Amino acid sequence: MRTLIALCLLAFVAGASAQCVCSTMKWATCDGSPCVCTLPVDDNVKVSVDCTKLIPKCFLMKAEMYRARNKLDTRSSIGGKPVETAFVDNDGIYDPECESTGQFKAVQCNRTETCWCVNSAGVRRSDKGDKNIKCEPVETYWVRLQLKHKQLATPLDDTKLKTGVENAILERYSIPKNVVEKVEYDKDARLIVVDVKKEMGNRDIDLSRMAYYMEKDVKILPLFRNQSSTLQLSVGGTKVELEDILVYYVDEKAPTFTMKSVTGGVIAVIVVVVLAVVIGLLVLFFLRKRERAHFQKTQQREMDPMSS
Ligand SMILES: *[C@@H]1O[C@H](CO)[C@@H](O)[C@H](O)[C@H]1NC(C)=O
Repeated sequence: MRTLIALCLLAFVAGASAQCVCSTMKWATCDGSPCVCTLPVDDNVKVSVDCTKLIPKCFLMKAEMYRARNKLDTRSSIGGKPVETAFVDNDGIYDPECESTGQFKAVQCNRTETCWCVNSAGVRRSDKGDKNIKCEPVETYWVRLQLKHKQLATPLDDTKLKTGVENAILERYSIPKNVVEKVEYDKDARLIVVDVKKEMGNRDIDLSRMAYYMEKDVKILPLFRNQSSTLQLSVGGTKVELEDILVYYVDEKAPTFTMKSVTGGVIAVIVVVVLAVVIGLLVLFFLRKRERAHFQKTQQREMDPMSS
C-alpha cells in the first residue's frame, strides 16, 4: 500500500514537472521543481506568477508595455451604460505600477508627471492631475460585457443564452455561474449584453482579469499558452463566434471625473434661464396689452354718457 502511494506520488511529481509550462500566460517562462513561472515586465525585472489561475491584469499590462517597448509584440482597440456612473476604458494601455500581489496601485502615472486614479481594473476613474494626486483603492464589482456575435444562419435561442454564457466563462475564466447576473439579447444588432456582478465587498473574485482575458480572446490575441483553444460560446448546440467587445466598469464608489452629464447640466441651466426670460417677457407683453385694453374700455365707458 505504501509503495503504491509512493509510486502515485512519483508519477504525479514526474507529470507535474513535465508539465512545467504556464497555461494561462503565453509569455511566461517556467523552470525547476517545484515548477516556478515568471513573467518579464521590465528590463531585468520578472514577477513570479501563479499559472493555475488567470494572471493579474496589472502584470499583463506591464508585460505588454515591456514587449511593446522592445518591439516584441503589441495590442490593437472599440452602447448603453448599465448605470449612469458606468464608464469605459478610453485611454487604452499604459505602463502600470503593480503591488507585489498584482493589484493596481491606486495612483498611476505611466512613467510621466501626469497621474490619475484607477479602479481595481486599472481603468482611470478620475481627472488627470499631478504627482501629488490623492487616490483610494476602489474595487470594480460589476462589469457589463457588450458582445457582438458574427452573422448566424438562425438567431440564437434567447432562453438558452444565459446558460451558454455561464458555461463559457466558467470553463475559460473560472468565473462562478452565480455572478452572471443577467444576459440580454438583441438579435437584430447581434448584441449579447452580459452583466457580471459580484457582491460589494467580495475580494475573492477578480472581474478585471476575466474581462481582460475575454477582450484579448475576442480580438484574437489570446493570452493563454494554447493558442488553438478559443472562447467557446455554445447556445443550445449552436456555436457562436464573437467579433466585438466593449466593457463597462462599475465601481463600488462612483468615479470622480468630470462626466458628460455635467455639460448636460450646464446646458439644462442655460435652457431654464432662457425659458424664464422668454416667459417673463411674454407675461410682461400680455399684461401691457391687457392694461391698454382696460384703459381703452374705461375711456370708452367715460365717453358713453356723452354720446347717449
Ligand atoms: C502611456 O505611455 C505610452 C508610451 O509613452 C503611450 O503610448 C500611451 O498612450 C500612454 N498611455 C496613457 C493612458 O497615457
